[in-house]
Amino acid sequence: MNTIAIFASGSGSNAEAIVSYFSERPDVSVGCILTNKADAGVIDRAKRLGIPCYYFDNSTMREGEKPLALLRELGVELIVLAGYLCLITPVYIEAFPQRIINIHPALLPRFGGKGMYGVHVHRAVIAQGESLSGITIHLVDELYDHGRHLLQATCPVHAHDTPETLAERIHHLEHRFFAPTIDHYLQNELR
Ligand code: GRF
Repeated sequence: MNTIAIFASGSGSNAEAIVSYFSERPDVSVGCILTNKADAGVIDRAKRLGIPCYYFDNSTMREGEKPLALLRELGVELIVLAGYLCLITPVYIEAFPQRIINIHPALLPRFGGKGMYGVHVHRAVIAQGESLSGITIHLVDELYDHGRHLLQATCPVHAHDTPETLAERIHHLEHRFFAPTIDHYLQNELR
């Protein structure tokens, strides 16, 4: 059995898509969801989905001791960042080498790095006049949005797009590709 932990700071639509994708699988389960936001929408989603959800404040998350003790207790083998807005500190990278996956709502290496999240990314893509955007699913190292790419998927940017309309198109890509990419990584690189 592969046990996954999802870290999320926001609404949790990606977390829900991942939980749903693996819900019938005997070999993979989402063991917990961790959040650094006490009012994150993902908390209600976790309750509805029956997934244990734990809140730790930013300093506790960055320090790592309590969250990592919980992950060890649950036998977590892979951490998935699904809209997690806090830098992953080296203590996590040491504990989970090549076992932390992130999704970024743009085609890295462009439009990445500190502060580039949510609508800020889409606003920058539109301001740059890009005709293409998309998602990047990648392994996490100690730099923001920097690790090996596992998958990129693209979508058009239309002339009339707003950050919100582009965000919606990107969300569809995320919900379609994130869980299968995690699955492929588990089956082919963590076996
Ligand atoms: C997604 O757009 C993801 O690319 C980014 O944060 C957002 C999370 O959305 N890292 P949700 O909370 O999963 O709905």
